[in-house]
Amino acid sequence: MIAGSLSLALVAVAVVVIGAVAGGSAAGSPGDGASDSAESATPRPVSGAAQEPAAVDTFDRTAHSLDDPNSIWVVVDKLRPLNPQDFEPDDLVDVDVPHTWDPMMRQEAADAVVAMFQAASDEADLTLASNSAFRSYSAQEEIYDGDDLLTARPGFSEHQTGLVMDIGAESGDCSLDACFADTAEGVWLRDNAWRFGFILRYPADKTPVTGYEFEPWHFRYVGVPLATEMHETGVTTLEEFFGLPAAPEYE
Ligand code: DAL
Ligand code: ZN
Repeated sequence: MIAGSLSLALVAVAVVVIGAVAGGSAAGSPGDGASDSAESATPRPVSGAAQEPAAVDTFDRTAHSLDDPNSIWVVVDKLRPLNPQDFEPDDLVDVDVPHTWDPMMRQEAADAVVAMFQAASDEADLTLASNSAFRSYSAQEEIYDGDDLLTARPGFSEHQTGLVMDIGAESGDCSLDACFADTAEGVWLRDNAWRFGFILRYPADKTPVTGYEFEPWHFRYVGVPLATEMHETGVTTLEEFFGLPAAPEYE
């Protein structure tokens, strides 16, 4: 039995070697004959990455309007004011979370915020708090401080959509300050907000695109599918994701 197996194995080796030499001669390319032969017998990529099929982008970028202020994908920036400029959503509800100012948001965003705050508590033992959510045109008139890198002009603030919350730690440490990014609450939100349909709307490296300085506290609801797609593709602004012009300044 053992002798029989050995001779069969030797025959198999011989066939492979002869086949390789023959393939090399036939292809007329000395030096890589063995791989030519193997490929002609069994087509497969020589090295994986370059020849793998391209990933197909199946995400539907037209699922929601970017212009309608009632759309969860509405893009509001310095070149894209709300239309009408004094828009108010008709499904605002109180958001039952710790807060400094009484927060209101559109129902869908409010539900997502409540779920996110609960997860921060359950998963990381963190207590988040709202510093600001829906702001009307007139509220934005009072908040606007003339510094276009920090506050939006009335009619140009995402807060007016009812889809935004400025989030901090219940302790108030680093509230509405860049240092919030380095707190446990800021880090948790940065890493997890997408799971609940939120994006960090004004990233540190995107001032030339968004027109605003880093706001690690400002989270915009866009729904789970879009937030997940942006998370997975690493595209961090709505302008870049939807191929809209950068909006560093007002017209
Ligand atoms: N701070 C943001 C840009 C706003 O005022 O809407
Ligand atoms: Zn904000």
